[in-house]
Amino acid sequence: MSETLAPGAEAPPYFPMERAEGCPFDPPGELRATVAERPLSRVRIWDGSSPWIVTGHAEQRALLSDARVSVDDRLPGFPHWNEGIATMAPHRPDSVFNRDAPVHTRYRRMMTAPFTFKRVQAMRPVAQRITDELLDAMTAGPPPADLVAALALPLPTLIISEILGVPYEDHEFVQHHATVAVDRYATAEQAMQSFAAQVQYLVGLVEQRAGEPKDDVISDLAKRVTEGEITALEAAQMGLGLLVAGHETSANMIGLGTLALLENPEQLAVVRDSDDPAVIADAVEELLRYLGIIHNGQRRVAKDDIEIAGEVIRAGEGIIIELSTANRDPRTYTDPDVLDLGRSSRDHNAFGFGIHQCVGQQLARVELQVVFGTIFKRIPTLQLATTVDKIEFKHDRLAYGVYELPVKW
Ligand code: HEM
Repeated sequence: MSETLAPGAEAPPYFPMERAEGCPFDPPGELRATVAERPLSRVRIWDGSSPWIVTGHAEQRALLSDARVSVDDRLPGFPHWNEGIATMAPHRPDSVFNRDAPVHTRYRRMMTAPFTFKRVQAMRPVAQRITDELLDAMTAGPPPADLVAALALPLPTLIISEILGVPYEDHEFVQHHATVAVDRYATAEQAMQSFAAQVQYLVGLVEQRAGEPKDDVISDLAKRVTEGEITALEAAQMGLGLLVAGHETSANMIGLGTLALLENPEQLAVVRDSDDPAVIADAVEELLRYLGIIHNGQRRVAKDDIEIAGEVIRAGEGIIIELSTANRDPRTYTDPDVLDLGRSSRDHNAFGFGIHQCVGQQLARVELQVVFGTIFKRIPTLQLATTVDKIEFKHDRLAYGVYELPVKW
């Protein structure tokens, strides 16, 4: 357990905090209030430790690109998300998620090739075709429909399954275990069982592709295993990371983004009425900024003393980087709590920053640009089939979103 507080010091607030009722798109008020005045403060977490929380935009970027800040979750003082993840940490194979450079660099190179700007642009027509087909199927049925089940979840799942070479028929299995993987409150037992099932599945797939290679990421990883570059377990961990990170996040952005636009009709009109790819691209960046779906604080630990924003983070102290608040930093954005698709918000922290910045960001952008550039043109009468207060939000998940989005047209 990390840092203890000075005697008499006030106990810091518990993290994660609840969002204010009636403000489903805003990070918790208690956190937002600190952004400009105290971009670094302390919180208390599930294991009783009091790591730093970093809420400011510039401070986050400084720390995320500082080699003294580590993602190594086996180091003492690391502020784990929950008990399940803490228990798993010593058993997880090395990967981009838990290693610093230079080990990180080696894995990262293996993962980035299929997700470069150029290769991902080639997926745009595929994303468009799948979006059109999913919307056709949804509107062929009677309203209301659940937009999450009809579009938000299948689109990124189909795309990442195709890139990786994971059979789409297995998506229910994948979906179930991915849900446990991103559960804020997963127990140690649940996390262990789920991780074991997923690794076993991926190792099986890697072995199969080693014998029958195809043009997909799993075959590429299988080749590296055969050549002795990585172990089957490392390959499974990489495939799994891409699979989980690749659909849950984009799915949440589609569901929550559609809701935010339905609630802001004048902003919805911007994407509905424009065919200009630059307008749609800017709109997507603003939605990424405003919604801040990665709301559980990226976890790090200091390897050395670090002076920042008038404070000193001591070696061995835990650091939580709460990306969603940086995107509402009034020092970086004018009227940060306003959704304004016309503003330029490309420098948001929604994909992180530094060497761990999102591998799949170009793919996510393509998916979101296709969806938000299509959905309101195809269905101009799209509207909520319920009221916002009846919608269930993913307060309990590592990535924020909606469980269901009932819509009619
Ligand atoms: C809107 C969708 C997405 C959002 C908001 C998002 C957000 C993020 C963030 C914030 C990080 C940095 C984590 C950290 O520094 O601790 C990250 C890393 C990562 N993301 Fe994404 N992501 C999205 C989509 C995707 C997709 C589609 C993929 C896969 C194709 C993906 C794969 C990854 C991987 C592998 C990493 C780890 C990179 C590393 O540690 O070097 N993400 N993502």
